[in-house]
Amino acid sequence: MLETKNLTIRFGGHVAVDGVSCAFQPGTLTAIVGPNGAGKTTYFNLISGQLPASSGEVWLDGENLSDQPAPVRTRRGLGRAFQLTQLFAHLSVLENVRLAVQARHRKGLKLLSVWLSHRELIAEARTILERVRLASRADDLAASLPHGDQRKLEVAMLIALDPKVYLFDEPTAGMSVDEVPVVLDLIRALKAEKRHTLLLVEHKMDVVRELADRIIVLHQGRLVADGDPATVIASPIVQEAYLGVAA
Ligand SMILES: Nc1ncnc2c1ncn2[C@@H]1O[C@H](COP(=O)(O)OP(=O)(O)OP(=O)(O)O)[C@@H](O)[C@H]1O
Ligand SMILES: [Mg+2]
Repeated sequence: MLETKNLTIRFGGHVAVDGVSCAFQPGTLTAIVGPNGAGKTTYFNLISGQLPASSGEVWLDGENLSDQPAPVRTRRGLGRAFQLTQLFAHLSVLENVRLAVQARHRKGLKLLSVWLSHRELIAEARTILERVRLASRADDLAASLPHGDQRKLEVAMLIALDPKVYLFDEPTAGMSVDEVPVVLDLIRALKAEKRHTLLLVEHKMDVVRELADRIIVLHQGRLVADGDPATVIASPIVQEAYLGVAA
């Protein structure tokens, strides 16, 4: 189980995430919604360790990770979103995924023979690329991918790490209409496996309604609503704070 306790970060005088206490169970998908600037991405960065909290704690499966740097949290199972800046831009798409697969196997200290291991790693990376419909791009340089394919590569890298917790921050943003279903199908498939803790920041309410078991609402850094999708979407605070503009 992932849990944040009073998680807080201040930027100067501005409290971007303000005392957020929340627990997330494996096998569930929680959507995190809230207006622009509500603190959703910052909350993810505090969980993954990409930003240091001003105060509060992050726990995973009974272990306090609050003082651990991002790479340690990744090894413990907190999947963070990769950005193109964190990829090897001048390696191929396949090589990037292969390195992520390799990082996971190292974690498990699997001592395979070098050749067998290399062949297996490549095979696994190819399988993942097929899952995200990037197989045809396997030999392209990561840096050369169009935006939608970059986002798919990010998801591929995450899957390669096989994290316990997936943090999806607007995974379909900027994607073309035909690419969106590919990513949503992947999230659906992960959800169906019932073993991951899935957190999804998503502005599209139809997607949230369909995928989420639970919705939490952030507003000005604070957790202002938490419950099943129908109840939360219907609640006055969401209608006003979030959907008010669109309604
Ligand atoms: N590194 C930073 N330094 C200073 N302020 C920051 C930093 N990162 C985020 N903020 C501020 O924290 C607040 C929350 O930003 P955040 O990006 O988490 O919002 P969000 O909910 O993800 O919004 P969006 O829906 O637009 O992605 C904003 O006011 C933002 O300007
Ligand atoms: Mg954001």
